[in-house]
Order: sequence, then C-alpha cells, then structure tokens
Amino acid sequence: MTTIDASALRRTVQDPFGLVVEAPDGDADLRDLAPGTLAAWTEEHRVLVLRGFRLLEKPALVAYCESWGEILTWDFGAVLDLVIQDDAQNYLFTRGEVPFHWDGAFARVDPRFFLFQCLRAPAAGGGGETVFSDTTRVVADADPATVHRWESLGVTYRTEKLAHYGGEITKPLLSRHPSSGAPTIRFAEPLPPDRFLNPLSVRVEGVAAADQDRFVADLCRLLHRADYCYAHEWRDGDILVADNHALVHGRNAFRGDASRVLQRIQVI
Ligand SMILES: [Fe+2]
Repeated sequence: MTTIDASALRRTVQDPFGLVVEAPDGDADLRDLAPGTLAAWTEEHRVLVLRGFRLLEKPALVAYCESWGEILTWDFGAVLDLVIQDDAQNYLFTRGEVPFHWDGAFARVDPRFFLFQCLRAPAAGGGGETVFSDTTRVVADADPATVHRWESLGVTYRTEKLAHYGGEITKPLLSRHPSSGAPTIRFAEPLPPDRFLNPLSVRVEGVAAADQDRFVADLCRLLHRADYCYAHEWRDGDILVADNHALVHGRNAFRGDASRVLQRIQVI
C-alpha cells in the first residue's frame, strides 16, 4: 500500500463547521490515507468531505471501513443504498425531507461514524442536501440552568418497523461524546402521521403533558439555528464522513424530479 502525503491535500474549513479535503490529481485512493488521520479530522470538524477520491465497490468499501472499526450491520447488510423508491414504505426513500435524528437510536449501539459515498448527485438546485447540526455547540452555548434541566430528561420514541428499524425506546436527552467527553444532545424530531409514511412519536419524560409541544418545538428551533448547521450540497464522487455522536442530521426535500444515489455504511 502506498500512502498519500496528507500535507499535499487541499483542506478547506467550512462555515460553521466541516472540512473539505481535495486530492490534487482527482484520482486518489481513500485506502492510502490512514484511518486514524481521517477519524481525527472528522472528530475535529464533525463532517469530513473527501473530493478527488475514487469511489469503492461495496466489498472494498466494507473492507476499508473495517479498518476504522466494527461495522454496524442490518437486515440489508452493511451498506444501505439510499435511492428514491416509487413504492417507498419509509420516508428515507421518498423525495420528502428527513427531519433531524441520530443514527442507531433503534440499533444495539450508536455508530461512531457514518460514511456516505455519492454515486450520483442531484442536478444543481435539486435539493436533497444532507444537513448536520452540531449539538455539542448547542449545549456549550446553553445557559447552565437549561443544561441542568436537559440532564434530567429522557425521550421516548415509538415507530412501527417499516424498514430496517423500529420499536419503542427511551434515551437520555443528553449524552457524552465518547472521545471528547463533551455533552451532546440525542434527539430525533417527531414524524407526524399526516406528513410521513412511518410516523415517529416523541414523548419527553420529565416535561408536563401541557408543555410537551412547546418543549419539542423550542428544541427543534434551536437545533435548526443556522449557526449550528452545515448543509452539504452533494457532488458526484463525494465521500463524506460524519461524527454521529456529536451531530444530528437530516435531509432537505428534493425539488422537482431531482434524485440522487448514495451509499451509507456505519462504523461502531
Ligand atoms: Fe440517518
């Protein structure tokens, strides 16, 4: 295996977070970069975008990601094909928006990272951006009394299993980033039945019934604040790695008949 000199790559810090790393010749091999380097960049910048790297076939992608850590597998295997389905049973595969969530809420463990590779991006202006909110910044900016209250709360989520996940779970609202120890928010926005194929109900344990809607709306508004969010506009060939513990993420709706083809894999 050859290695790439990391200093030869062009690095551009995004606003308010995220790092784009471009290989100068446009034909680099991801496997020539040390996983530890990429993991460190991802944890520092929350989102790492690699451009100018060849996409990997699925078996090679799985083998490569195993060098990062154990792969989280589902009933479909390790790699999820994120494509629009005309007969979709789950909102992930429609043209609609995907509200904020973190990956692994219904799995046995939250993955540390997830990696996407973009086989086909939407045409310019076609929407479908993946949006990330840095919850560590949200907590860091909150006043101590608010953080203290959040620490006492749990959230119960319920959804029918219509794709590869489902059931009822209760999770603490706050968690700790396993690497940095920074407090993070674990929250998934509700999916109301009049707008989503597979509704997700959310009940905040420790908040009075009469205050539920306002609490959830306030939290959603905070997570969506522009200075906490990075929206990634996909280009063909993008490889993106995200810090699942620090972030929540979602997807903007597609416009018109735009679509895209992504593959996703999760590393524990
Ligand atoms: Fe996700």
